[in-house]
Amino acid sequence: MYIPVRRIFIEQSPLGIALYRLKMRMGLPMLPPHILKQRVVKEYANRFSIRTLVETGTYTGDMVAATRRKFDRIVSIELDETLWRKAKEKFARYEHISIIRGDSSEVLPGVVASVPGPCLFWLDAHYSGGITARGDVETPIMKELQVILDRATRGDVVLIDDARHFVGKNDYPTIAQVQDLVTKKRPDMSLVSKDDIIRISSTGNR
Ligand SMILES: C[S@@+](CC[C@H](N)C(=O)[O-])C[C@H]1O[C@@H](n2cnc3c(N)ncnc32)[C@H](O)[C@@H]1O
Repeated sequence: MYIPVRRIFIEQSPLGIALYRLKMRMGLPMLPPHILKQRVVKEYANRFSIRTLVETGTYTGDMVAATRRKFDRIVSIELDETLWRKAKEKFARYEHISIIRGDSSEVLPGVVASVPGPCLFWLDAHYSGGITARGDVETPIMKELQVILDRATRGDVVLIDDARHFVGKNDYPTIAQVQDLVTKKRPDMSLVSKDDIIRISSTGNR
């Protein structure tokens, strides 16, 4: 019988966070477990009183499942047809959750226009090998950011996963390029990168 040890004891367990903090203190880099990312999303939702989550890249729906009680409305976008169908079935009984199929760079403008009020964006659509999809580019992050930062609504928070990839290769911009875009479009917002997550929010309340 296959037991997903890493998933149970690291990715989805508070033990994973303790191990991550310990290893980082010891100078032994480790990727943050998914449960830490879930906590960060919930913390920002609390801090900014945001009740709507928009996620790009659903995968198996771990972030949706972990935050489904935190938000009044969740919209998640997945490009791969099989992953989309499975996630749609998984969350079918929740009226406040929509799983949308498509390339987030194409679908996001419509989604953004349809959700009133401030949103927390969890941007995580990218090719990551295995069963994951690849659109025209490995990551549509710059197009996603343009759409979000042009939105008239104030009070949004943007969290971007996998900050370590933002080095200007494989369609990823550098963090400095993301910073430049934020400065140009939304000088009222600022950016910090911590625990592999780029965090963009109103200045003075990060
Ligand atoms: C790292 S996984 C997402 C994990 C998920 N957000 C979570 O936190 O549990 C990335 C997902 O993005 C999807 N993807 C890749 N390119 C995409 C695109 N252009 N639009 C939408 N989804 C995309 C992949 O198929 C994959 O399922």
